[in-house]
Amino acid sequence: MGILKDCIRDKKTNSIPIWFMRQAGRYLPEFREIRSNNSNFINLCLNPNLSKEITIQPLRRFNLDAAIIFSDILFIPFALGQHVEFEKNFGPRLGVLDIKNILEVTEEDILNKLNPIYKLINMTSKEKILKDKDLIGFVGAAWTIFLYMFNKKSPKKNLNKEIYNYPNTNDLIKKIIDVQKLHIKKQIESGATIIQIFDSWAGLLDEKKKEKYIYEPTKEIVEFTRKLGAEVICFPRSIKYYKEYCDIVGPSAINIDYEVDPIKIAENINIPIQGGMNPNCLLLEKNDMLKNARNYLTIFKNNRYIFNLGHGLMPETNPDNVKILVDFVKDFK
Ligand code: CP3
Repeated sequence: MGILKDCIRDKKTNSIPIWFMRQAGRYLPEFREIRSNNSNFINLCLNPNLSKEITIQPLRRFNLDAAIIFSDILFIPFALGQHVEFEKNFGPRLGVLDIKNILEVTEEDILNKLNPIYKLINMTSKEKILKDKDLIGFVGAAWTIFLYMFNKKSPKKNLNKEIYNYPNTNDLIKKIIDVQKLHIKKQIESGATIIQIFDSWAGLLDEKKKEKYIYEPTKEIVEFTRKLGAEVICFPRSIKYYKEYCDIVGPSAINIDYEVDPIKIAENINIPIQGGMNPNCLLLEKNDMLKNARNYLTIFKNNRYIFNLGHGLMPETNPDNVKILVDFVKDFK
């Protein structure tokens, strides 16, 4: 357990907690090396020795306060028996959505498929490098998972509005919630100290439909996770209604994207805030990058703040810049 949790629980910390979404990944040569010998991304994630190694790679290089397990939100459709693969230069590609089969999937089927992830968490949590640090587990939010299952690939900027007419929405969302609960419970039992909920495509949803697709399912998962005694960070990317979201959904902390005005967030939201800075800032010249970081740190100096970004680290990021940024945040007074 580390200072992320302390910050969320309003305990004093000696420095600002920091970690990055996609801190394990393609910008690290040591990840690319493993990846080049493992062309199947799903199999790589389900190899606990390798996924543990990838999870801790960034902690060997940088003074980060948390590791995030090397896995993917699309293991929920995978566990429900929908085919999932990751194609180079394309992203995820999912198979047919066979609702009848999906609704028949049992807990045992799910655990059989996801057990390597719990082994990864268990093994990682025992690593010395994680002593006094947090280990973050995660799930995708129901809306984002439903969207991938329906759309079968990343939607980019265009939502196929047919999704609103899908006839089995209620049953499917209920099933997704069942898997989320099981997956979260097992992650916590295996050693995850914090859960993050990624709603990457929340901003694509027609705002009038937020009650059904975002608030109801996410609130249920947040309450479930908090009842287990774990803290939960929500990331409803690109929504225009962060304050209302926090009031209704009730997460322990909120990750903001880089489009929202951080000054308004700092004024209006009084739960711990995480993230915000544009990942592109790490592609800038050092002083410009640090100017942006200082801006976020200054705006949030009277809030409980966890440094992170407004989305994941870009593959083009130079690891040297990550080191400079982490050291800067850790020294910031
Ligand atoms: O370091 C970490 O953040 C932990 C690991 C992690 C991955 N995916 C590994 C990954 C996490 C937390 C995720 C979450 C995830 N996966 C999200 C939510 C966060 C976000 O980015 O919005 C989403 C939408 C996915 C689905 C997904 N997985 C996509 C769209 C892609 C392809 C696009 C891309 O960035 O490559 C993936 C593949 C993926 N997941 C990679 C990694 C490291 C790239 C794999 C590779 O080609 O080497």
